[in-house]
Amino acid sequence: MNTVQVETKPFDGQKPGTSGLRKAVKVFQQPNYTENFVQAVFSAVQPSAVGSTVVVGGDGRFFCAEAVDLIIKIAAANGVKKLIVGHKGILSTPAVSCIIRKYKATGGIVLTASHNPGGPNNDFGIKYNTSNGGPAPESVTNAIFELTKNITSYKIVPNLKCSIDYCGLQYFKVDGREFEVEVIDSVVDYLQLMKSIFDFDIIRKLIKGSENKAPFNMLIDSMNGVTGPYVKKIFIEELGAPSNNAINVVPLTDFGGLHPDPNLTYASTLVKALQDGEYDLGAAFDGDGDRNMILGKKAFFINPSDSLAVLANNLECIPYFKTNGVKGFARSMPTGAAVDRVAAKCGKELFEVPTGWKFFGNLMDAGRLSLCGEESFGTGSDHIREKDGIWAVLAWLSVIANTGQSVETILINHWKTFGRNFFTRYDYENCESEPCNQMMSEFEKYITDPKIKGQKFIFGSKVYILKQADNFEYCDPIDKSVTRKQGIRVLFEDGSRFVFRLSGTGSSGATIRLYAESYEPPTSNILEDAQVALNPLVQIALEISKLSQFTGRTAPTVIT
Ligand code: G6P
Ligand code: ZN
Repeated sequence: MNTVQVETKPFDGQKPGTSGLRKAVKVFQQPNYTENFVQAVFSAVQPSAVGSTVVVGGDGRFFCAEAVDLIIKIAAANGVKKLIVGHKGILSTPAVSCIIRKYKATGGIVLTASHNPGGPNNDFGIKYNTSNGGPAPESVTNAIFELTKNITSYKIVPNLKCSIDYCGLQYFKVDGREFEVEVIDSVVDYLQLMKSIFDFDIIRKLIKGSENKAPFNMLIDSMNGVTGPYVKKIFIEELGAPSNNAINVVPLTDFGGLHPDPNLTYASTLVKALQDGEYDLGAAFDGDGDRNMILGKKAFFINPSDSLAVLANNLECIPYFKTNGVKGFARSMPTGAAVDRVAAKCGKELFEVPTGWKFFGNLMDAGRLSLCGEESFGTGSDHIREKDGIWAVLAWLSVIANTGQSVETILINHWKTFGRNFFTRYDYENCESEPCNQMMSEFEKYITDPKIKGQKFIFGSKVYILKQADNFEYCDPIDKSVTRKQGIRVLFEDGSRFVFRLSGTGSSGATIRLYAESYEPPTSNILEDAQVALNPLVQIALEISKLSQFTGRTAPTVIT
């Protein structure tokens, strides 16, 4: 088999966002569009592509199979030595990270648009992960983008036929070189890793119950995304949960029409199912399995910022941390600061990074970070370099099994110890881009004007005094790279704050996110509804940003 060089022309806008290149399926289906981007990936990672091993897998959404086939043919033409591909192209994002690290691969290509809907009329995405198993840093994604702007041809082996329907090794001879494709079971390596981190026996006992303890009843919703096979293997087969504890466990190319984003709006079926109190815990994941939402009995909601703090405070329940020790903690800037209080108590370093999991990788590689999370339903640790939905549920189950307390009790006790960081996020999805950009730049000008420092903002009986406002900037403590314009932060004297940020994961238009947070000490009203507690702050943010004038929106599409 021989390589063919195909002439092509650049496409506009092949710039990877927060998490890879994400566009409508129809965009990827244009002749040469996917080929150009994949070629740019291999060109950008040269010379390491030659003789390299690359992991390939995705969440099974529409166009995954076609993309895997193209990647195999283009990888072969670019001198890659070996591809490790998930069975039928299926690998969760955390599993890709695990496999890259375990087999010391050069990198990996993840085919997913994460939590965006799938199907012929929805989204697809391609993301490159580096040898540490994490999303490529901006230096790499910028190099890929630059290459897409000037591409004139790509290399492909059009006649290479490789089935990914069966596990096993396949050998090919390409331009006289050996090229290998190993199709692997999607779950085995990941399961092994989870077994090395958690005490499965303790979790199994919790789930099965005993003479004087009722079985722990869960409802786990894979939302027809990639986690189905992992959930079946781990929770049902290994940990002994009854099979009806898991729903939507067959990965579907269009997620069965679901929007696989585990939040209170899009995972509302799970929320409803939990409301009558039959289940002790509910969990949902996004399309590619890196996000998680955890609910307690009667759909008691665990805010992701709180989830991070609770886990940080209970890491002794997890064997992995007992063995490896606990280095620092980290969260993204918009994430609620509950974990900061745990870090202060334990005397650990706390890092505040821009939104995007890639910013945690350097800190982990440098041995400074063990546990981190984001308000966007991401929680994870340095066991891999992606956030990890199933890991988060196993972590919660470990805490529940060790403390003997319910989800709700664990959280309320946490607030009683540390006080509560009330947190909410408002999303205004699918707005027009231009007015959003305008709103952001005008608001930044207004709020960062030194003249208004110290100004009072009043809503009802609440008075907030402006302490500081800026557009968040981050200097990576390890490689000293600087990332600018990561969201407009407005900080008040009493520690309350709000943040405006444009989403980086959409495929078209713009999504504005408003994050609001305030702190109440343990002695105060920690059980208040977050929406009530934060309403004054939210109203002030909406008013002074003129959000509804710019976007025409009077209400958010999602509230967390
Ligand atoms: C992806 C990344 C996360 C990040 C999120 C932000 O899920 O993996 O690390 O928090 O995107 O999404 P947004 O839409 O707010 O840019
Ligand atoms: Zn995801």
